[in-house]
Amino acid sequence: MDHFLYKNGVLHAEDVPVPDIAAAVGAPFYVYSTATLTRHFKLFDDALDGMEHLVCYAMKANSNQAVLKLLGDLGAGMDVVSGGEYRRAKAAGVPGDRIVFSGVGKTREEMELALTGGIRQFNIESEPEMQLLSKVATELGKEVPVTIRVNPDVDAKTHEKIATGKSDNKFGIPISRAREVYAQAAALPGLKVIGIDVHIGSQLTQLEPFELAFQKVAELTEVLRADGHEISRLDLGGGLGIPYERSNEAPPLPVEFGALVKKMVGHLGCEIEIEPGRLIAGNAGLMVSEVIYVKSGEDRDFLIIDAAMNDLIRPAMYSAHHDIIPVTEAAPGAEPATYDVVGPVCESGDTFAKRRVMPAVGPGDLVAFRSAGAYGAVMSSEYNSRLMIPEVLVHGDQFAVIRPRPTFDEMINRDTIPSWL
Ligand code: LLP
Repeated sequence: MDHFLYKNGVLHAEDVPVPDIAAAVGAPFYVYSTATLTRHFKLFDDALDGMEHLVCYAMKANSNQAVLKLLGDLGAGMDVVSGGEYRRAKAAGVPGDRIVFSGVGKTREEMELALTGGIRQFNIESEPEMQLLSKVATELGKEVPVTIRVNPDVDAKTHEKIATGKSDNKFGIPISRAREVYAQAAALPGLKVIGIDVHIGSQLTQLEPFELAFQKVAELTEVLRADGHEISRLDLGGGLGIPYERSNEAPPLPVEFGALVKKMVGHLGCEIEIEPGRLIAGNAGLMVSEVIYVKSGEDRDFLIIDAAMNDLIRPAMYSAHHDIIPVTEAAPGAEPATYDVVGPVCESGDTFAKRRVMPAVGPGDLVAFRSAGAYGAVMSSEYNSRLMIPEVLVHGDQFAVIRPRPTFDEMINRDTIPSWL
């Protein structure tokens, strides 16, 4: 559920008419709903009710400071994967003891940053990382809580670029070697082994892969405990999918995910962490764009809009579907049109949708891409020297620009010309 609905034929973000935002900031832009972000965080938090738990928002999905502050104030922890994300989380007021550090390539500098600034745990992904973290923690006179991310060799049944739980993916240590690696970790100074971490992929639309993975984690917990390790925390990752196509069957809900967690690992008495990103932010955001031209091709019409692949790369990168709706609701019974929806960037990959059947629109009309709150703005770039588009947050009948559109001078003046030129 989200808070982007038509009222009197005009798309609203909560109680704000989307055209009002367009008039204030210009198209294209991203807009996020406070109510949806809040609702989605609470759905996860409530789903784990009865178990000691922390929902650590995977901030890679949307790391705007306002979004982090909103979720942090609700009690969310953060899953970070870089020194930049760690700094963003801290800047938004999230305390170190609610930040978990994930990722396959943590550097010494990132370790030092988090060890000095405070961290809830590191999720270790390899033996060399474990050795370096031990060294850095010892140098700083710290003992840091760690989990080890295991790769359970489970097919997440999602797009290959976002599946992470198979043995040919770069993530985690093979679960078959877990006992050996845990024994090594326990012997290293500066590390306090407290749990197990797993994350098998993103945009999962079925519970079954989670079930298989959690089953393996539950079994491993017993084995490692028998080996003498304290396993008191399980980080079960993120990955629950969202309904990108309203016409398709919806993926399982957080409450069903929570019930599965209880069923599979509840008896172990561990503290549970989860790292949802997409489900919290995805349907809490729209990307709004203005139609520039409708161009007739040989056998199709191209809807050329002012947003492009540099603003929302998911269709180009993962062939992802985003529903595209007009900001002014189509009249009942109006004949739909069929478009290839494209941006102005100079490559054919800059295509948002092919042969999309949607209400007819024309130059100057606004269209909204649904489900654009996660992996939208964060993955954008200035390709073709296009300015990064602004982000707006609504709250009831108020809205605020939470990242302005830069000026062309700001973009150009970041470059410097060497003295010899
Ligand atoms: N935890 C870890 C360790 C992760 O690598 C990820 C996502 C998450 C949590 C959050 O997963 P989520 O709940 O958002 O599915 N750019 C891609 C998605 C990449 C996801 C990467 N890792 C896309 O636009 O589909």
